[in-house]
Amino acid sequence: MDYRRSYIKQLFDLAPGTEATAFGWVKTRRDSKGLSFVQLNDGSCFKDLQVIVEDGVVDAELLKKVTTGSCVAFTGLVVESPAAGQAVELKATSLEIFGEADPLTYPLQKKGATMEFLREKAHLRVRGNTFGAVFRVRNQLSQAVHQFFDKRGFHYIHTPIITASDCEGAGAMFQVTTALEHAEDGYKLARKDPADDFFGKPSYLTVSGQLDAETLALGLTNVYTFGPTFRAENSSTSRHLAEFWMIEPEMAFCSLEGDMNLAEEFLRETIQHALDHCGADLEFFNQRIEPELLKTLTHVVESGFERMTYTEAVKHLEASGENFEFPVSWGTDLQSEHERWLTEVKVGRPVILTDYPKEIKAFYMRLNDDGKTVRAMDVLAPRIGEIIGGSQREERLDVLERRILEAGLPIEAYWWYLDLRRFGSVPHAGFGLGFERLMMYVTGMKNIRDVIPYFRTPGNADF
Ligand code: 4AD
Ligand code: MG
Repeated sequence: MDYRRSYIKQLFDLAPGTEATAFGWVKTRRDSKGLSFVQLNDGSCFKDLQVIVEDGVVDAELLKKVTTGSCVAFTGLVVESPAAGQAVELKATSLEIFGEADPLTYPLQKKGATMEFLREKAHLRVRGNTFGAVFRVRNQLSQAVHQFFDKRGFHYIHTPIITASDCEGAGAMFQVTTALEHAEDGYKLARKDPADDFFGKPSYLTVSGQLDAETLALGLTNVYTFGPTFRAENSSTSRHLAEFWMIEPEMAFCSLEGDMNLAEEFLRETIQHALDHCGADLEFFNQRIEPELLKTLTHVVESGFERMTYTEAVKHLEASGENFEFPVSWGTDLQSEHERWLTEVKVGRPVILTDYPKEIKAFYMRLNDDGKTVRAMDVLAPRIGEIIGGSQREERLDVLERRILEAGLPIEAYWWYLDLRRFGSVPHAGFGLGFERLMMYVTGMKNIRDVIPYFRTPGNADF
């Protein structure tokens, strides 16, 4: 056996009369007079291969082992299919069983299991239609990310996952330590002084690669990271994970306008890539998960995003007459209900909000001349809310130092970040896009737990 054998996807293109072997996992087997019909899938495409087994062609006892969830290979002849929706099927001449799946205990026996149930069986859910489609789209979108940046001369960089600087202030961090040891009666403190800990000081899982990406952009000009990031917020919503993947471009010689242009091009191009490469999967999501999905995605690719300042957005929200759970006024952070109203009701497509009050945004965002707002931008999408957060960075040493102190952050820890403003500083900008939020947008899946193979949320780190 060799990985170079063909996939079911390729088998569909073979001419009738060709001999072929199809490897995969059985979706269903149906027996009727003189014939058995087996639906086989190997994950290479949405469509199952139909295998026809005439009575007596393979051993009857062996055929009984072809049950939902079992892993098998059929060899046979490719023949024209009389059934609708498929050009060819496989007429079996022999069968090999790799792994049986006892119908009495195989957990994914029936169609129509709930998403909640499937999360408990996350190690098996990929074999069903929905999750096969999710992970094929996830692959295509990942490929699209690298193609998008490569075409534009961006360097793909790798920023650290463990960091001693709680620089971002983006959210609660997970501490990385060897100072704690497991003991039978709970945790035991093995080292009390942080200086004796593994990294010689308190260290954490990163919440964002941005600050490191900035150092590389000021030398390589245009860079991006695409890696895991971690937030220890104790919130269980359908849009938050404790471990998620973030795409973060950072560009020297770039203002907020350039940043917004890149964000918009990024979303339009990666969505177009999914439309071009995941037709059957998106068709499925359109039919079963989110009606109008294809219409929305096509619309987004074709139409520009609305751009609006935070101040204008607040005026629209105040004038909306809506009875929001959280009241809005200038200075408050927008809640998901406000973001959704703006994108879904007011504008009907993605919106980029800019120039937020400095109090509700991070210290590194460039201060506007009004002294009250910063050059921040959030891209908000219908159904999802915030999908991208970015900004032009503060490149002026004195202003940045003042902002760090005003934020009450330990300025000594930022010596290297401030060095970028001491030596060869330049206007620069970047953004962070939550990859799972993009996945939700493109697939129409309603819960962020269902667009990543294994989700990390409070209380769950299984599999
Ligand atoms: O807005 P955020 O916190 O921005 C940053 O971390 C910046 N340092 C990025 C940058 O400028 N390089 O996060 C960026 C995006 C959000 O817009 C959202 O899509 C996603 O990351 N995100 C999450 N996705 C899933 N689960 C969570 N808990 C998330 N928190 C943020
Ligand atoms: Mg944000």
